[in-house]
Amino acid sequence: MEARVDLRSDTVTLPSPEMRQAIHEAELGDDVYGDDPTVNELEAKSAEMLGKEAGLFVTSGTQGNLVSMLAHCGRGDQVLVGDRSHIFTNEAGGASVLGSLFLYPVKTDRFGFLEPDLIRAATTRTDYHVPPTKLLCIENTHNQSSGQPLSADQTQAMADAAREGGMTVHIDGARLFNAAVSLGVDAADLTAPADSATFCLSKGLSCPIGSVVVGSEDFIDRARRWRKMLGAGMRQVGVVAGAGVYALDNMIDRLSEDHTNAKKLAKGLAEIDGISVDPEAVKSNIVYFNIPPGSGASISADLKERGILVNAGDPVMRMVTHYGISSEDIDYTLVAIEDIAG
Ligand SMILES: Cc1ncc(COP(=O)(O)O)c(C=O)c1O
Repeated sequence: MEARVDLRSDTVTLPSPEMRQAIHEAELGDDVYGDDPTVNELEAKSAEMLGKEAGLFVTSGTQGNLVSMLAHCGRGDQVLVGDRSHIFTNEAGGASVLGSLFLYPVKTDRFGFLEPDLIRAATTRTDYHVPPTKLLCIENTHNQSSGQPLSADQTQAMADAAREGGMTVHIDGARLFNAAVSLGVDAADLTAPADSATFCLSKGLSCPIGSVVVGSEDFIDRARRWRKMLGAGMRQVGVVAGAGVYALDNMIDRLSEDHTNAKKLAKGLAEIDGISVDPEAVKSNIVYFNIPPGSGASISADLKERGILVNAGDPVMRMVTHYGISSEDIDYTLVAIEDIAG
């Protein structure tokens, strides 16, 4: 059956007709010369919205995190990351391969928070046997914690502990606007404790490509050089930045619909025998739930038969809501799962 409900990730979102129009009308120039007015607008707008001096358009969240780590650190430095963070588990070790950086995993609690004492403990030794620890990376929302948003106070507490140890602070905010909408705060409040942040345009904001890094002018200057070295100095890239400008104006407030759908999904799943999930833990657009061990491949194959796509986790499965998922799609999915797994 043709796919009808795609719950694999919010990265599968397609641009709306209005976004396609914005792409069509974007003014273009050579961005390596700084001449693309649409990219310049996107970078300035992003920086303003996140309370930083400057922005840099990058190809992906992974590249945004990578150029940020490279711009904050030098060869042989250590970066503290959450042990269940995307940077540590899903970015191919790029910081180590390309930057000679050592990633030190700090235990993450079930809400995506890194206890300040664990951050302090990781930097008590400063003798010559250990690499200098220069950077703390925080993830908000925290993907593997059911998309938990971290508050400004939590972020401040982690950042304070990092600064005591002489570190700078980067936020992997792939879904930062989901966090802001979920908490009902300005995204700038969440980035204020940090030196830099990355957010993705190509996830809940529904753009086809791209992420933006923000920070001080000096930091962005260094990140821009790394981006060039990584081969991502792009030319008339306003064709994609145009979607980003449109998204920042039009796609943020509607993220609450995705959160409502995720909550509805979690509540429905909690009613099905054999499935366990805590709906209270779902605060944005990601739902992780437990299925009977060994059933992941068959459940996902049966769902596919009914036009529902999920990644085949086992015994933990993930579903992500987004612009392409309606409340009716959630109803359809719940009926299908009840039938298959219940
Ligand atoms: C928390 C987090 N950070 C970074 C990324 C990387 O983004 P990209 O796929 O654009 O490289 C992802 C992707 O899912 C993510 O979930």
